[in-house]
Amino acid sequence: MKEIVVSGIRSTGNLHLGNYFGAIKNFIRMQHEYTCYFFIADYHSLTTHPTPADLHMNVKQVLVEYLACGLDPDAATLYIQSDLPEIAELYLLLNMNAYVGELERCTSFKDKIRQQPDNINGGLLTYPVLMAADILIHRAHKVPVGKDQEQHLEMARTFGNRFNRLYHTELFPEPYAFNYGTQLVKVPGLDGSGKMGKSEGEGNAIFLSDSPDVIRKKVMRAVTDSGPTSEHQAKPDVIKNIFSLMELVSSPETLAFFEEKYNTMQIRYGDMKKQLAEDMILFTAPFREKINALARDEAEIHKIASKGAEKARESASATLKEARHAIGIRRF
Ligand code: TYM
Repeated sequence: MKEIVVSGIRSTGNLHLGNYFGAIKNFIRMQHEYTCYFFIADYHSLTTHPTPADLHMNVKQVLVEYLACGLDPDAATLYIQSDLPEIAELYLLLNMNAYVGELERCTSFKDKIRQQPDNINGGLLTYPVLMAADILIHRAHKVPVGKDQEQHLEMARTFGNRFNRLYHTELFPEPYAFNYGTQLVKVPGLDGSGKMGKSEGEGNAIFLSDSPDVIRKKVMRAVTDSGPTSEHQAKPDVIKNIFSLMELVSSPETLAFFEEKYNTMQIRYGDMKKQLAEDMILFTAPFREKINALARDEAEIHKIASKGAEKARESASATLKEARHAIGIRRF
């Protein structure tokens, strides 16, 4: 039997290069090698209270962008999280054995407290439990994610193992974060902050759907410094970020050219950013074209989401049945 793969992306907006290199690039290859379940995490996005119209539009946008990136609904099961009531039920069951102390210590919870101090809701605290339910519901082995999700995977293993121990079962295998390159990826943002992300500042992320003009503007505004003052000087973080982004989208020759300029103190960041912007435009062009074409095909989107939900529910309901039985929720 092939190993099971599960992963998802929150429906909080358009997909960016961090999502692509951290997750989707692996999805595309994994879908032909494993039994894959890829979904859109719309329950998770409720922690930030989107309007109903925005929520609906964003779910559609992520599905369209999944397809534009090359996810194949005939190879992988593509679905929307809220189409599987089994996930919500497993979340409830797992919550009974998740302790407030361990949830409060989670790094992503501490970050959120800082980002949205006026909206520290229960969904944020139990976010890792819902994520564990997403993964455990298909009894996954591998979870392709970026580096920022590593701690959530550790918690998914904790909750799965705890369930197995408590109820004397081997229902849940241990899920591990996965990347073909072996190292989990962290794509930096353009504003000098560590990570490219939707919740970071405006201009920090390059979205797959950004127009060439928008990409040029964002990249030209990226933070740099006044340049190296000695040969082969170690790069400060903001400069490392620009080089890391170039490594992802540019040719090795281009990267080597600017490395050499940096090491010999001849670098002009304006030239480097111009080149980076053009390479990002080239890299994202095929996605952009497909996104625009697919977004118009409502009937196809409906068909894919319905078929995905049906397939995913088959696997989810089998797991939930066993989980309920193990706990002692049995029919009289
Ligand atoms: P989300 O929606 O923030 O991001 C989706 C995926 O993109 C990766 N990613 C990055 N990778 C590298 N560098 C970056 N700058 C970067 N930004 C985002 C994330 O690591 C992730 O793989 N909680 C998850 C969604 C989720 C999930 C799941 C994932 C819900 N349930 C079950 C896997 C399995 C999240 O918020 O990802």
